[in-house]
Amino acid sequence: MKKIICKTYEEMSAEAAFIIANQVRTKPDSVLGLATGSTPIGTYKRLAEEHKKTGLDFSQVKTFNLDEYYPIKRDNRQSYRYFMDENLFSHVNIPPSNVNIPDGECSAPEKECSDYDSGLNKAGGTDLQLLGIGNNGHIAFIEPGENLPLATGLVELTQDTITANSRFFEKEEDVPKKAISMGLSGIMGSKHILLLISGKAKATVVKELFSGKVTTQIPATLLNLHPNVTVILDEEAAGLL
Ligand code: F6R
Repeated sequence: MKKIICKTYEEMSAEAAFIIANQVRTKPDSVLGLATGSTPIGTYKRLAEEHKKTGLDFSQVKTFNLDEYYPIKRDNRQSYRYFMDENLFSHVNIPPSNVNIPDGECSAPEKECSDYDSGLNKAGGTDLQLLGIGNNGHIAFIEPGENLPLATGLVELTQDTITANSRFFEKEEDVPKKAISMGLSGIMGSKHILLLISGKAKATVVKELFSGKVTTQIPATLLNLHPNVTVILDEEAAGLL
């Protein structure tokens, strides 16, 4: 894994936006895998600015988001659909039909999951997959466990994740207990994985990530098996390395 340590969150975001913008310029019909959460907000902001200032063109780009809470309404401010519209899609010229996010309102989640994987496979997988990491080492909503899912599926969120994500909700009880999450095949099938990590709270999991060991109890360690991963960290996240 290639490691880039940046001084601040802003530098990390600028570096990530530079890599993504380059991907889109080099291959205008790129398939991008996208993440939500606090970490990529600065990156999306810079991509939106890049579109405004230089006309960075998203008209042929296709996107597949990693996950969505289940169940959740699209117009719920905490849905990942809402997040993506708010932070990126409404600021760039991506056609809505090129955007793929698991549907938190679907009535048949199993079908939704298999259709999601079919769509991803038909698109040829992602050229670049943007990832964040949970304090517990999850990527997407692939939570620590003995077995990790290969396919996109409906997963139970761990208490750690529910507590961590409750900061976005009015109260912890409002956090959905399940999510639809891309599986390991979708993530590991990407040509280039870009993992962003920021803040002191992630320093312990970062140490595990670079420990030279792989364990399903820290799903992100599996990224060590991928041939093309770039990890961009800020100094706080890299504090224990
Ligand atoms: C979000 C996702 C999650 C987050 C992770 C870190 O789509 O897949 O794995 O990347 O929970 O979240 P933040 O960035 O809020 O610390």
